[in-house]
Amino acid sequence: MEDKRKLYIETYGCQMNFSDSQIVGSIMTDHNFETTGNIEEADLIFVNTCSIRDNAEKRVRARLREFNRYKKQKPGLIIGILGCMAERLREQLISEEKVVDVIVGPDAYRDLPRLLSIAETGQKAINVILSADETYADINPVRLDSNGISAYISIMRGCENFCSYCVVPYTRGKERSRDPQTIVDEARSLFGQGYREVTLLGQNVNSYKWENTGFAGLIGMVAEVNPQLRVRFATSHPKDLSDVLLQTMAAHPNICRSIHLPLQSGSNRILRLMNRKYDRDWYMQRIEAIRTYLPGCAISTDIITGFSSETDEDHHDTLEMMRTAAYDYAFMFKYSERPGTLAHKKYPDDVPEEVKSSRLKEIIDLQQELSHKSNRADVGKTYEVLAESTSKKSGMELSGRNSQNKVVVFPKKNYKPGDYVKVKINACTTATLKGEAID
Ligand code: SAH
Ligand code: SF4
Ligand code: F3S
Repeated sequence: MEDKRKLYIETYGCQMNFSDSQIVGSIMTDHNFETTGNIEEADLIFVNTCSIRDNAEKRVRARLREFNRYKKQKPGLIIGILGCMAERLREQLISEEKVVDVIVGPDAYRDLPRLLSIAETGQKAINVILSADETYADINPVRLDSNGISAYISIMRGCENFCSYCVVPYTRGKERSRDPQTIVDEARSLFGQGYREVTLLGQNVNSYKWENTGFAGLIGMVAEVNPQLRVRFATSHPKDLSDVLLQTMAAHPNICRSIHLPLQSGSNRILRLMNRKYDRDWYMQRIEAIRTYLPGCAISTDIITGFSSETDEDHHDTLEMMRTAAYDYAFMFKYSERPGTLAHKKYPDDVPEEVKSSRLKEIIDLQQELSHKSNRADVGKTYEVLAESTSKKSGMELSGRNSQNKVVVFPKKNYKPGDYVKVKINACTTATLKGEAID
């Protein structure tokens, strides 16, 4: 047999992209490639890209410039752009970035081997056709960079919510769900291989639907694979977070006590412009439902600051909602206008850059305070921690997470990654809990 050629994949963006890179890895290993973590030895470089904000795209563009060097060293080297930038920019990327040979959108990965054979003849190859039914359900992902303990399972693709600022509905296409049996089988096989945590992925998991199975039904089935398998999910849209899901979580201790519920803005006026389809009251009532059904559940969020026409008053509404929801963690972003979105057409990007920056700083400062407070409240408590790896800072410590998704570091003793360990928390920073294993 001829030697396998080497594929190096670099991934940007959301968890969905990381999961897609594993699907791509699987398709390519079926076509006489093996993956490598060393770019220097690659015959093929794939960059799986993100378009969510302008700076995400700029980062990839800068990286592409660096690839010229590898191409000079190895003339046969092929470079492919995958994912959301490929979908959004299409041929434009080929004309602007000479180093690129192949452009492939998120629903066309099965076509990669054919596109590659075109590129090998020196031509440029492109497929950015979006699909109404592709879910890659039958493809068994190659677990790249895996710690062997936690894995992603993609349960649906696409998004049709059309939040006015967001590029995802254009880059990922129609929403579609994956056959639940294939999801449960994947979870079972991962558990058999020693994995102890799966994260079910979709842009809006609460609208998962396959015949009579909704998301609550699906997550219940996955949780029943084994009580020793932790189940997480991302992302929930506040408009669709149902009581039935919260009840299902309450009934399964292995579904983690952690919900990511992106707020985006605390102002009703801005939420309407964003087309988020909920208001402050609805959102707060969802937070209260979480607190009622799942005491001790962590809540995290995403916030965009400086959306079109946002005033100081709107900004203060956001700060106030953050305090009321008392988030354990947040991802916070400056609004970045995306070409082709509704906001781009209808709402001018009129908040000055300095104002965006100073509001972002206030939001980050507040969240630091909230995260620290949340962590301080955990000191003295005992949590079951799934150990994941030897701590980066010290070989004598293990690092893992509790059900609330907080990172917990503790002295190793005889424990190893993959073990569930009861840890009593005795100190914290804004980012981590520290403790001691108790037997
Ligand atoms: N589907 C998920 C979010 C995916 S994108 C959801 O709806 O919750 C992740 C986050 O990026 C979003 O929640 C939002 O906070 C942020 N984001 C999306 N578009 C953005 C834009 N144009 N500018 C700044 N942040 C954006
Ligand atoms: Fe974007 Fe909204 Fe869809 Fe999330 S739900 S991916 S923010 S359009
Ligand atoms: Fe980015 Fe596409 Fe995910 S735009 S956030 S990689 S869906």
